Amino acid sequence: MKAIIIYSSYHHGNTKKVALAMGEAINAEVIEEAQAKTIDFSKYDLIGFGSGIYAFGFNKKMVELIGNASLESKNVFVFSTNDSGSTKNHKAVLDILNSKNANILGSFSCKGWDTFGPFKLIGGVSKNHPDEADLKAARDFVKNICDNNM
Ligand SMILES: Cc1cc2nc3c(=O)[nH]c(=O)nc-3n(C[C@H](O)[C@H](O)[C@H](O)COP(=O)(O)O)c2cc1C
Repeated sequence: MKAIIIYSSYHHGNTKKVALAMGEAINAEVIEEAQAKTIDFSKYDLIGFGSGIYAFGFNKKMVELIGNASLESKNVFVFSTNDSGSTKNHKAVLDILNSKNANILGSFSCKGWDTFGPFKLIGGVSKNHPDEADLKAARDFVKNICDNNM
């Protein structure tokens, strides 16, 4: 099983931590979105796309990358870190993946430290996240995907 995880993580590296934990759990290649432009997705059995949530969605460059990728019938999953640990802002990216007939195997999210705008005046919100429990949940999420589908 050949897996790759692509992430975008420019605020505090929160999503990078999650991507690396997932990658270690299933022995996947882990790369930044900026290095993924020439990836041949057909070589992979499983592809993960992760981003911090910025203004209610994934990083625009990540959305663009997904929009340009050939993902017909490919096994994919998405993940994010954000203020609340909710997956609600994954919808736009899931819609794109659905429109490409990708095989969506799951969606994961956890809290990530946010010091954007006025939040920095109070030391940020979701401080100390992702924490060890978040990273364990991330590892369990990808292991379950592999156990149930690969
Ligand atoms: C410019 C900006 C916009 C953000 N917008 C949202 C948002 O709309 N909803 C949310 O839950 N978190 C928002 N956040 C918080 C980030 O999603 C959170 O800090 C995330 O963990 C950042 O991930 P990163 O460190 O991997 O970049 C925003 C952060 C920044 C810097």
